[in-house]
Amino acid sequence: MGFKEGFLWGGAVAAHQLEGAWKEGGKGVSVADVMTAGDNITKTPRKITDGVIEGESYPNHAGMDFYHHYKEDLALCAEMGFKSFRTSIAWTRIFPNGDDEFPNEEGLQYYDDMIDEMLKLGIEPIITLSHFELPFNLAKKYNGFMDRRCIQFYEKYARTCFERYKGKVKYWLTINEINNQAEWRKMGAHHIIQVGAVLVKEGDDVEAIMYESAHNELLASAVAVKACHEIDPDAKVGCMIGMNGVYPASAKPEDNLNAQQAMHQKYYFADVHARGHYPSYMLKKFERKGYDFIKEEDLQILEEGKVDFISFSYYMSFASQFTNRFGRTFDFSEEDYIRNEYLKASDWGWQIDPTGLRWCLNWFNDRYELPMIIVENGFGAYDKVIERTEEGYIIDDSYRIEYLKEHIKAMKEAVEYDGVDLFGYQMWSPIDVVSASTGEYDKRYGLIYVNYNDKHEGDFSRDKKKSFFWYKKVIESNGTDLD
Ligand code: BG6
Repeated sequence: MGFKEGFLWGGAVAAHQLEGAWKEGGKGVSVADVMTAGDNITKTPRKITDGVIEGESYPNHAGMDFYHHYKEDLALCAEMGFKSFRTSIAWTRIFPNGDDEFPNEEGLQYYDDMIDEMLKLGIEPIITLSHFELPFNLAKKYNGFMDRRCIQFYEKYARTCFERYKGKVKYWLTINEINNQAEWRKMGAHHIIQVGAVLVKEGDDVEAIMYESAHNELLASAVAVKACHEIDPDAKVGCMIGMNGVYPASAKPEDNLNAQQAMHQKYYFADVHARGHYPSYMLKKFERKGYDFIKEEDLQILEEGKVDFISFSYYMSFASQFTNRFGRTFDFSEEDYIRNEYLKASDWGWQIDPTGLRWCLNWFNDRYELPMIIVENGFGAYDKVIERTEEGYIIDDSYRIEYLKEHIKAMKEAVEYDGVDLFGYQMWSPIDVVSASTGEYDKRYGLIYVNYNDKHEGDFSRDKKKSFFWYKKVIESNGTDLD
């Protein structure tokens, strides 16, 4: 019973949210570098500017200064007993413009050192190749993944990383939360630029753009999987899906079918990654809409680039109601989401649903029967600094402990009762990072506090929260001691 030996307990972060040093070491400008700070209190969304504009505030430029603090941060993770650490490589540290002829040696060396540091501490690196930080030049010059040349640029970048870190990195993830963009109606261009560096203009057919650029991203992922298998046969490559299951609002048959269609729309990406081809429901949708971007030769590329495992993030669940918006096609729109009266939500409105994690693990397992790893799960909150306690912490984040505890319990049930093949759990994020959706510093997820805030006060010093000590015990006991 319980988690297998060698279960990869750990935590996950992303380069653009943590590293900072946006101009150091030969780094180029990424799409994250042109995203301004938003604000949850005033409901100000992040803006994507046309390059870096003086007078605007870009939180990813400083991040949490992990670039200079990574040794200290990894040592703290090792103190908690981490078996794994997930981070991403910033594409712009390796190929500053995305289409450069040669890689930037300083960037390659930086990650060499960081990965060596993890290995020295007995921590397994899990590396994401693309986590919302594509070169901005690719957006400007090619309109990102709307242009098939970006598949080649991504392949070159991926091959460079596989060759350089061969034998050191055993787990790679291709594209972070590739499926987020299916929610373009709610998020607008935000996710489409984050995932694919595609700039959407007024009057564009966003739906058509989303499906076509996503297809090219799926091809890029498949090409990378194949390349990795050739270069380092011992390494494994996974997809990364942002998983937040959709429940029907009621037992009404139309609500049920609507929720199923929502799952289709949001998760067909996983079908393509895992099965190597598009599901029939998606091909029918493309036919209905007259999309013809899939070429004959693409079919073999997808078939040859099936992933070895599924990785996913899980924060919340959704519920949807049939509104007849699209009639009998049941095409889904996230505008049909409703508030789930059975769930509480965070200050950002994210509905807290530990049971849903077990549901999602089963959903993936039933569909693909592949090994799985949870690579993000965590609780964003406004933390309050208190006096240092005798135990040594300065933040009493019992609410975060509660969230993580309940989710770990649900994941344990999925392993023990449902037999899902799970090889790791990484909470988001061991260290406070800049929020991806809002660009806030004050939306904190960490077990380790970073002394920096939205008012730009602080010195980036690190400290332990109550959850630091709790998670250490969880790992030590391999998930048996959750109190
Ligand atoms: C996932 C992303 O969407 O959720 C992370 O992969 C992100 O990059 C995390 O930080 C939490 O979201 P947010 O918006 O609260 O930072």
